[in-house]
Amino acid sequence: MPAPALPTRMRAWTYRRYGPPDVLKLDELPVPTPGPKDILLRVHATTVNRTDCGFRSAEYVVSRLFSGLFRPKLPVLGCEFAGEVVAVGAQVQRFQVGDQVFGFDDQRFGAYAEYMLTAADGGVARLPKGWSYTDSVALTEGIHYAWCDLKAAGIRPGSRVLVYGATGAIGSGAVQLAVSLGATVTAVCATPHVERIKALGAHSVIDRTTTDFRAEPGPYELVFDAVGKSHFTLCKHLLTANGCYISTELGPRGENVFLGLIGGLRSGPRVRFPLPTITRADVEHFRSMAEAGTLRPLIDRVVRFDELVEATRYVETGQKIGNVVVTV
Ligand SMILES: NC(=O)c1ccc[n+]([C@@H]2O[C@H](COP(=O)([O-])OP(=O)(O)OC[C@H]3O[C@@H](n4cnc5c(N)ncnc54)[C@H](OP(=O)(O)O)[C@@H]3O)[C@@H](O)[C@H]2O)c1
Repeated sequence: MPAPALPTRMRAWTYRRYGPPDVLKLDELPVPTPGPKDILLRVHATTVNRTDCGFRSAEYVVSRLFSGLFRPKLPVLGCEFAGEVVAVGAQVQRFQVGDQVFGFDDQRFGAYAEYMLTAADGGVARLPKGWSYTDSVALTEGIHYAWCDLKAAGIRPGSRVLVYGATGAIGSGAVQLAVSLGATVTAVCATPHVERIKALGAHSVIDRTTTDFRAEPGPYELVFDAVGKSHFTLCKHLLTANGCYISTELGPRGENVFLGLIGGLRSGPRVRFPLPTITRADVEHFRSMAEAGTLRPLIDRVVRFDELVEATRYVETGQKIGNVVVTV
């Protein structure tokens, strides 16, 4: 039976200038056409995450080097997606129409829409067996940042890792990934989230509202500040001689970038500032872990497509628990 004809128009949240969540407008756009190496997806779920928010607000001016100096080059955000393949480019062999996939694309974005294109060879994989679109969609954004940072720190069996900000998308991913690498994990979060973070496999949890983690004994091979609220100088004493500090933020006056660059020149604990990357092998790895039951994204809430702006305001309070999923 021939595949049903695709519509020519789609609904999409677009942004034509940088600014607060209100710059997002519900629009109608043509359904994109796949190039030879692309797949076209009917998007079923996306997330409102800090990557999309960062590009939209352009709070860090440096992001404009990628997204457009004066105005956004790509009008549709949405780097994290789950959906069904509805068309494939002439050279695509990895996927076929009808496949259910999830992934991450911060080169072209596009998941804030009913249809999007992504490279078939990029950060995309089939859904884990038995997982739905909404279960799977948050398996990449925070999780791949955490994965890059744990790899850069050389975490291996027996490493001791402290994750500050374990409730966030990155932090909750970091706890599970570090456990999977055989590390002993101490997580830091607020009182209401202690049990939830313990359930992710953390070996011990420090309640940041009652205890200052910096006054607790270490040492750690890695202090990972997954919410960018601490400083290297205040955490250095917690690190082993070869230990490292990684933060998800640039730090005051960009100090984490600078200290990361000169870190290799000095002895003792150092700062690392790895640049995040994602490959198809990474996404396949997250899928295998999900299927094995060792990785499950923490979901704060699931909202409808028309609630995306309100969800964005919520994410920007900095208080979400893991991930905010949007059904499309
Ligand atoms: N610019 C970009 O492209 C980009 C992309 C991704 C991430 N990031 C950065 O990475 C960081 C993490 O993002 P995320 O999405 O994983 O998580 P998130 O949504 O920023 O983290 C939310 C959690 O952080 C904890 N938190 C909030 N304020 C805190 C504080 N003052 N001290 C300690 N913990 C606090 C809270 O949990 P508890 O109350 O349980 O502690 C909250 O539930 C953010 O700073 C974000 O800006 C930036």
